Amino acid sequence: MAHRRVTVVGAGNVGATAAQRIAEAGLADVVLVDIVEGLPQGKALDLAEAAPVVGHDMSVTGTNDYADTAGSDIIVVTSGLARQPGMTRDDLLAKNAGIVRSVVQQAAAHSPDAVLIIVTNPLDAMCHVALEASGFPPERVLGMAGVLDSARFRTFIAQELGVSVTSTHAFVLGGHGDTMVPLARYSTAGGIPITELLSQERIEALVDRTRNGGAEVVALLKTGSAFYAPAASVAQMVDAILNDRAAILPCAAYLQGQYGADGLFVGVPVKLGRAGITSIVEIELTTDEQAAFDRSAAAVRELVDTMARQAAESVVS
Ligand code: NAI
Ligand code: 2OP
Repeated sequence: MAHRRVTVVGAGNVGATAAQRIAEAGLADVVLVDIVEGLPQGKALDLAEAAPVVGHDMSVTGTNDYADTAGSDIIVVTSGLARQPGMTRDDLLAKNAGIVRSVVQQAAAHSPDAVLIIVTNPLDAMCHVALEASGFPPERVLGMAGVLDSARFRTFIAQELGVSVTSTHAFVLGGHGDTMVPLARYSTAGGIPITELLSQERIEALVDRTRNGGAEVVALLKTGSAFYAPAASVAQMVDAILNDRAAILPCAAYLQGQYGADGLFVGVPVKLGRAGITSIVEIELTTDEQAAFDRSAAAVRELVDTMARQAAESVVS
């Protein structure tokens, strides 16, 4: 059987590490793309030369030309800029929206049946750009954030309780930012809700640490942001899609009325399979949880509105 094919756009920290995980797990051949000449080719060659040692037969190639990505089953978008000194949040939003729009248009044109997994920040807003730029149906455009945020919550729960991470489960909803909504009552150790195992005060501390999980890594690294856990999260989503697992994972999905949001990408549990999102899983939220979800959705809406304003201003000027 021919190997499946995954294109990873952006051969930086997240992109190259995701490429490594996807190839080394034997999930698919990987095509790494970047705007910098030599970077994707060099990293791909290095990854390909690790294959005999690791023992897999997936090909890893690098390119600056989207024609080489044709016929991909999945396109992972990690290309983007980090916020530079002097750059406002809105400047970064405009820059990354431009990058995501351009790479998605080029990649989607060569792989019209692919599923798009967006990683570039600000995540939920970039999913909107990708939906529009690709012209793909919403079930084939999703964002990676919830798997990562849930993994962070699981790590902290396991450390707190002194149990294996494999015994934990966690659910984090909402946008990927400090308004995200970690749901304690659906987060478990050995199937037992953590609300039965930990005090409210300790749960709040773990929730807080989860919300600041990205910033905690940035503060330690000083330059750059997390990439090992983000790349592992991408690989889990790729596995769920390529192997048609019907896995329920928290992903940024385009909501059309679910959870009270309409026409907005926000993190919710979805069923993932070969066609992308096969269904959005709706769960009953308490009044407080729904209010927290609404706040998070409003923060995403604000970014989407800012992008629309920026687009209108660029047409006028
Ligand atoms: P990085 O700086 O290491 O890599 C970004 C890569 O994108 C660079 O190699 C750059 O040359 C490339 N690039 C820039 N413009 C391009 C274009 N027009 N076409 C093709 N490639 C282009 O950054 P890193 O650490 O890999 O992060 C990538 C993005 O993912 C950032 O926006 C980051 O904030 C985001 N991120 C999101 C997470 C999430 O949970 N959604 C988690 C971790 C990172
Ligand atoms: C993170 O959560 C930077 O969004 C990225 O680590």
